[in-house]
Amino acid sequence: MTIRLGDIAPDFTQESTEGSIRFHEWIGDGWAVLFSHPKDYTPVCTTELGEVARLKSEFTKRNVKAIGLSVDPLKDHLGWTKDIEETQSVKLNFPLLADGDRKVSDLYGMIHPNANDTFTVRSVFVIDPKKKVRLMITYPASTGRNFTELLRVIDSLQLTDKYSVATPVNWKHGEDVIIVPSVSDEDAKKKFPKGYKALKPYLRVTPQPDLP
Ligand code: BEZ
Repeated sequence: MTIRLGDIAPDFTQESTEGSIRFHEWIGDGWAVLFSHPKDYTPVCTTELGEVARLKSEFTKRNVKAIGLSVDPLKDHLGWTKDIEETQSVKLNFPLLADGDRKVSDLYGMIHPNANDTFTVRSVFVIDPKKKVRLMITYPASTGRNFTELLRVIDSLQLTDKYSVATPVNWKHGEDVIIVPSVSDEDAKKKFPKGYKALKPYLRVTPQPDLP
C-alpha cells in the first residue's frame, strides 16, 4: 500500500518496549511521530534514539508523542535500550515497536527492497490528531536524521492549520510568515491586524500571527 499525505495513517497493534500498542488509541487526541530504524544495535540508530529522548520536552510542548520502530524482537530492544542509556546518557522515554514480523514496516512501506531487502530505511511519518499523515520523509540507512528539522515542520503544520498562512524557506518559530494567496487584500487587513508587506501581489509577508 502506498501512503500519501492526507491519508489516514494505517492503524495496527504491535508489541513495544512499553507493552502492546494499539496505534490510533495510543496517539489519542495529539500528534505523533513514527520513525523506523534499520536494525537494533546499530550506531546511527543509537544516536538518533538518544536525541529523540533528549528532545522529549520539545515534543511534549507541541503535544506530540514519538514512537520508534525496528524490525527486531523485543528481547533485542530491551538489551539495546541499556546501551542507548549508557552511551547517550539518557533513558529511552518513548516506546520502540518490536516489528520482528514486519507488520508495521510493511503497512507503512518502510522496507525498500532495492535499497535493502531486510532492513527498513529511515522513514518518518508525522500524524495529526485526526490521524492524517501530514509529513513523510525517507532517509537512507547511512544518514542520521535531523530531529530539530522535524520539530520545525511540526511548528509550521500547527501554525498553518490555525491561520491562513504558509511558512517560507528555512522558516523558524518567531519569524515572519506568508499570507496564503487565497486571502484577498481586504480580508488580509482584517485577519492580520499587525499588518503585512506586499513584495508582490502574491507575496505578502506578516509577523507570525500567534505571537504577542
Ligand atoms: C546504523 O544505524 O548505524 C546503520 C544501520 C544500517 C546501515 C548503516 C548504518
